Amino acid sequence: MAQVLKDGHITQAGKYDDLLQAGTDFNALVSAHNEAIETMDFGEDSDGDIAPSVPNKRLTPSVSNIDNLKNKVSENGKSSNTRGIKDKKKSEERKKKRTVQEEERERGRVSLNVYLTYMGEAYKGSLIPLIVLAQTLFQVLQIASNWWMAWANPQTEGDAPKTSSVVLLVVYMCLAFGSSLFVFVRSLLVATFGLAAAQKLFIKMLRCVFRAPMSFFDTTPSGRILNRVSVDQSVVDLDIAFRLGGFASTTIQLLGIVAVMSKVTWQVLFLIVPMAMACMWMQRYYIASSRELTRILSVQKSPVIHLFSESIAGAATIRGFGQEKRFMKRNLYLLDCFARPLFSSLAAIEWLCLRMELLSTFVFAFCMAILVSFPPGTIEPSMAGLAVTYGLNLNARMSRWILSFCKLENRIISVERIYQYCKIPSEAPLIIENCRPPSSWPENGNIELIDLKVRYKDDLPFVLHGVSCIFPGGKKIGIVGRTGSGKSTLIQALFRLIEPAGGKIIIDNIDASAIGLHDLRSRLSIIPQDPTLFEGTIRMNLDPLEERSDQEIWEALEKCQLGEVIRSKEEKLDSPVLENGDNWSVGQRQLIALGRALLKQARILVLDEATASVDTATDNLIQKIIRSEFRDCTVCTIAHRIPTVIDSDLVMVLSDGKIAEFDTPQRLLEDKSSMFMQLVSEYSTRASCI
Ligand SMILES: Nc1ncnc2c1ncn2[C@@H]1O[C@H](COP(=O)(O)OP(=O)(O)OP(=O)(O)O)[C@@H](O)[C@H]1O
Ligand SMILES: [Mg+2]
Repeated sequence: MAQVLKDGHITQAGKYDDLLQAGTDFNALVSAHNEAIETMDFGEDSDGDIAPSVPNKRLTPSVSNIDNLKNKVSENGKSSNTRGIKDKKKSEERKKKRTVQEEERERGRVSLNVYLTYMGEAYKGSLIPLIVLAQTLFQVLQIASNWWMAWANPQTEGDAPKTSSVVLLVVYMCLAFGSSLFVFVRSLLVATFGLAAAQKLFIKMLRCVFRAPMSFFDTTPSGRILNRVSVDQSVVDLDIAFRLGGFASTTIQLLGIVAVMSKVTWQVLFLIVPMAMACMWMQRYYIASSRELTRILSVQKSPVIHLFSESIAGAATIRGFGQEKRFMKRNLYLLDCFARPLFSSLAAIEWLCLRMELLSTFVFAFCMAILVSFPPGTIEPSMAGLAVTYGLNLNARMSRWILSFCKLENRIISVERIYQYCKIPSEAPLIIENCRPPSSWPENGNIELIDLKVRYKDDLPFVLHGVSCIFPGGKKIGIVGRTGSGKSTLIQALFRLIEPAGGKIIIDNIDASAIGLHDLRSRLSIIPQDPTLFEGTIRMNLDPLEERSDQEIWEALEKCQLGEVIRSKEEKLDSPVLENGDNWSVGQRQLIALGRALLKQARILVLDEATASVDTATDNLIQKIIRSEFRDCTVCTIAHRIPTVIDSDLVMVLSDGKIAEFDTPQRLLEDKSSMFMQLVSEYSTRASCI
């Protein structure tokens, strides 16, 4: 039973032969396919060995082949089924280990360098001394106003006032206004610094991520990147500058109080020193665990984000296989993994708070007991009162100081993590000023590969093992080979998405590795295996740089067979494109990518399975259009559908990363033992089954 769909309706349904006899749409599809097959007929008919147009001849061996294969699989399969699955799992795990590494995290103390670099991030650090100055002045004025009140007011009843009440008030108000002004200036400076530093860091990180080589994206799950650019960045945006400011102000306040106390009741210092030592000890004990917990916490957030985005992207598949529960469970498991260090981290801070509070309460009680137990007259009551009040205040200040430092240290880990991403090694420079190709380059589109070796990472095996050949300018080159033979890798090397590990690519006498990436990539055009559309409109996707007129865009659309579809839409060129182009079929996406290439008019065009998802009739038409539109261009076509490349000027057969054959298709077809011939006969066998 076959069904023919047209414009969203089933126009025909029935058995293959009935449909064929009925003519119309199904017939059109089949005849387009046959037409494509016929283009391969030359060279085969002469011998009669391979006759794709005669189905029965080919059908028998292919069926028996399949049967053989099936038998082999079932024989081997039964005995080694479980072992096979285990091996597969193991090898998959090994592969995973190799490609996706564990998220890196620092150990031990946050380096002082992180603090210093962060402080120097905005306005070259010039605001930091101003912030400290403003805070110090605020503190000095605060102390001065208290001191003024204490000095100018009569100490006891009947004392003559030292100044008139008007002077007292005016001076006090001036001091109070002065201190408010400085605290305002400090807040303003902290906010300004925080904003500028956050922006700088974000842009730095974003640049590094955008300029990262492809291997970085291969080995880094998107959740990790999202975690750093969202969660860590929001800590930098909203928290760190204020925590840094807060820490500076508590430090200055503490110093102020110690200074005042050493002047007024210096004896209290005897108590302060051991207490400070006890606090420091607790802080060091706490911070060692808390720092690591915060780092683990940050790392544990990435898998949650990653699974979430992955589940949303694959919602249809998950529902299709009824695996909602499994994903839900995994999500809960990952949330638990995240919540565990979070809970421990919260418990740790409670641990510290409890001990600090206990310490200050005990110290206070001890002071009180001693002061009370002094015989009357040994110490002045006013002095005792002052000592108790300041001692208590100092205790509280000290705990706050320690806490603010701990919180700062926990938060600064976000900056540390962002700096890690600012150090990702970049791809080669976009433009190399003293090595720019002429604007007309490449004039001929001559591509020469010399002993080209490529691998995806240093610790992975070579994918291309020394490929050497010349693609003459203006010729149509077909690249064929089995899945995984390295066809797409060759193209990626041409665009330098992966830098060659050895050998050279010379395009029109210029070494592609010597020039800037922008110069290279802007002169080449590609229709990738996996066409990417961006959220926006059709116009934006076809002409992202807005360099072309509507007229030209329409012409390109006509040529790539999309004119009618777009014209039938209400918004025409402004028809919406959803995320990943999900509202367009894969074939249509490929056609839009073709339109993009038509508009770009580059000398060298690469098609990586560009028409794999369009029907044969459209494919034939597109091949014709490419031939006429890119007449003088070098066109490299990768295709599994052999008819797509059969009329190329040259055909390259890749096998396990090496050139197996490279010649004109006619000559390759003459040699009955050639790999190309084998691919052709396989394809025609498959095709003739229809
Ligand atoms: N990003 C990657 N990281 C590591 N290895 C990769 C990567 N991409 C491809 N490979 C490996 O490189 C080899 C060649 O892959 P490539 O994509 O070039 O094959 P292909 O010939 O284009 O296959 P197909 O016809 O299926 O598109 C494969 O063995 C594959 O496992
Ligand atoms: Mg490929």
